[in-house]
Amino acid sequence: MTAASANVKPATGGDGSASPRHVAIIMDGNGRWAQRRHLPRVAGHRKGIEAVRTVTRAARAQGIEVLTLYAFSSENWRRPADEVGDLMGLMRRFIQSDLDDLASENVRLRIIGDLSAFAPDLRALIEGAVARTAGNDGQTLVVGLNYGSQDEIVRAARALAGRDPATIDADAVDAVLDTAGLPPVDLLIRTSGERRLSNFLLWQAAYAEILFVDALWPDFDGAALKAALDDFATRERRFGGR
Ligand code: IPE
Ligand code: IPE
Ligand code: MG
Repeated sequence: MTAASANVKPATGGDGSASPRHVAIIMDGNGRWAQRRHLPRVAGHRKGIEAVRTVTRAARAQGIEVLTLYAFSSENWRRPADEVGDLMGLMRRFIQSDLDDLASENVRLRIIGDLSAFAPDLRALIEGAVARTAGNDGQTLVVGLNYGSQDEIVRAARALAGRDPATIDADAVDAVLDTAGLPPVDLLIRTSGERRLSNFLLWQAAYAEILFVDALWPDFDGAALKAALDDFATRERRFGGR
């Protein structure tokens, strides 16, 4: 019997004190936030970026080592071109406006997803931001851009093809995923009341505690994050043991 996966850990928690190393969030509900206010969807996405700032800061204050945010899925290209264009524009502006702050706050930015689909100038901007913060050793902020778990696993399979099958174990797969080197997800949160994973971190969340909250992403704040962490602390994690 081999237990080679990075996800295999002794049972922990349930006593109210455990805190997650890696929190991942499916930031959903921007469109509905706008719709309820009779605003264009882009207004929800803009407000969603404010929530990104708030929650990233709150996560740092809470000592969360890795925060992963799902910003644009590999399936989000199916949206109307004007919405996709708005989202690309917001990403560009976010990097331009926030990179200095992230860099000075010792945040290391990482991207998961396939950047080859983005416009060359946006891709260069994103890669420049990652390179600029690569030496930081505070919080790791991971952003999913054109990310889909199935696409990631397909790319990982391609990277492993041709290797001696006997050398391929869970750690070998881990090492060729976009998340290589990151700890597994401890707590996965989805906002907006939807109860699905939408192709997010299917491998990495193998033993994650999952929390679905009704708040729409633009309304999610530091207090909501704290409530999620308090909920996590009550969970007893077993990892298949007893
Ligand atoms: C999440 O909000 C942001 C992205 C997927 C880019 P949505 O845009 O999915 O908002 P709803 O689900 O339509 O409310
Ligand atoms: C998941 O939300 C993707 C992101 C939050 C980036 P979606 O709104 O795209 O998911 P579905 O389509 O409702 O499953
Ligand atoms: Mg949605």
